[in-house]
Amino acid sequence: MLNQSVFQTELKKSVLSKVCAHRGFIIAANWKMNLSEREAADYFTQLNKLKAAEKDRVILFVPSPFLYLARGLLTAGGVAYGVQNLFFENAGAFTGEISPAMAKVYGCGYAIVGHSERRNLFGETDEMISKKVRACLANGISPMLCIGENAEERKENRYRERLGRQLEKALGGLSDGLDKITVAYEPVWAIGTGMNATAAQAAETHAFIREKLTALLGEAGAKVPILYGGSVKDSNILDFVPLRDVSGFLIGGYSLKAENMAKIIRLLGGGPV
Ligand code: PGA
Repeated sequence: MLNQSVFQTELKKSVLSKVCAHRGFIIAANWKMNLSEREAADYFTQLNKLKAAEKDRVILFVPSPFLYLARGLLTAGGVAYGVQNLFFENAGAFTGEISPAMAKVYGCGYAIVGHSERRNLFGETDEMISKKVRACLANGISPMLCIGENAEERKENRYRERLGRQLEKALGGLSDGLDKITVAYEPVWAIGTGMNATAAQAAETHAFIREKLTALLGEAGAKVPILYGGSVKDSNILDFVPLRDVSGFLIGGYSLKAENMAKIIRLLGGGPV
């Protein structure tokens, strides 16, 4: 016999997976600078055995040297891939950079833009991020714009100003390709720390982001998917699923194992091919 708490968890999962299957979520993995060539190939092969729920979309943000593997090995419908960063020019003397056109060569449909690690460790400014968003759109790549406040800004209740400013600088004045934009809200204090935002914090912050997007982009802003990221895993993802303005997830550490991604895909209503 199932004990009461297992039964409750199973019930919650089954109800929520119906909600998910109905709404459609973006399930994005950010591998960062991880995995070997062999591990990447195995990962793609394992994901090919799974099918996300009808309206869900899986996006793998892999290290650029593995894009050729993604192109060659990913056969699962509904699994897309992209780069974790790119530059805003298409050619020139920019040592070490990858252009949107080069990302396209490998079939990338997506690019993460403005991840907090790029902002904080590599000095990316709001101005550069704005240029990158525009370069993506000009080259037919869907930008996933990351925004997020740090611990101090959260503690001192200044996070709305920070998020509002990041959105304005990156997206203000855009009028074309708005349906290609995705925003990922990733509180910096929750990235890689095991400390996720609470459902209440996410609900309130995503609603604020939605309001801001609508103010900036009009009707199109009401449709921009807003993902939550920051220590997402199987044990907390279902807390965010019912929230109206959460349209999916950007998952770092937990996504490094294909079996974990498989768990997430199944929790959100997908299953074997
Ligand atoms: P995390 O990373 O899931 O390991 O917190 C998320 C991200 O940085 O995109």
